[in-house]
Amino acid sequence: MRILIAFTSLSGNTRDVARMVRARCEAMGHVVTWIETDIQKLAQVAQDPHHDLYLLGAWTDNAGRTPSEMKHFIADLIEAVGKPAQLAVFGTGETQWGEEYYCGAVRRMATFFGTRYPRLEIEQMPHGDRDTIKIQHWIDHVLNSTLNCTENMPHADASRFVA
Ligand SMILES: Cc1cc2nc3c(=O)[nH]c(=O)nc-3n(C[C@H](O)[C@H](O)[C@H](O)COP(=O)(O)O)c2cc1C
Repeated sequence: MRILIAFTSLSGNTRDVARMVRARCEAMGHVVTWIETDIQKLAQVAQDPHHDLYLLGAWTDNAGRTPSEMKHFIADLIEAVGKPAQLAVFGTGETQWGEEYYCGAVRRMATFFGTRYPRLEIEQMPHGDRDTIKIQHWIDHVLNSTLNCTENMPHADASRFVA
């Protein structure tokens, strides 16, 4: 598959997760378009913006907000390809901001796109076997669900579920 990974990262945590996601996708033989939304625009990177799967990653800004660079990227993406059905969301946050706001950007983006995939939420930077396995399970599930397409989509409102 052609997979687009686009993410925003202030201090590197979300970039670390994105790198692990990318490595897994490429190890499974997929071709990745890589966009750092803080410094790159969709039109600069992807001659053809259409992909089989879109993976969007974000850190969470003040009180559960989506960083503005990701909002701009999402606007560009929708203008180019509409709201893709095959889109999954991942990101990092800190529980010290409270349950209501923890990884708020990931939740907002998942709700906005109405994604049928589970969300991937990592506390701060990924570390240890537990996070590595969690990330691998998430991306394997997303890839398998996409390859098997509609019959494997588990729940009409899976954006509420977390990997
Ligand atoms: C100004 C500011 C506001 C933040 N607000 C939240 C928040 O509301 N919820 C949350 O889960 N994390 C919040 N965080 C924590 C970051 O989302 C978290 O550290 C994240 O892992 C940073 O990712 P990055 O290294 O990719 O930039 C905030 C961090 C900053 C600097």
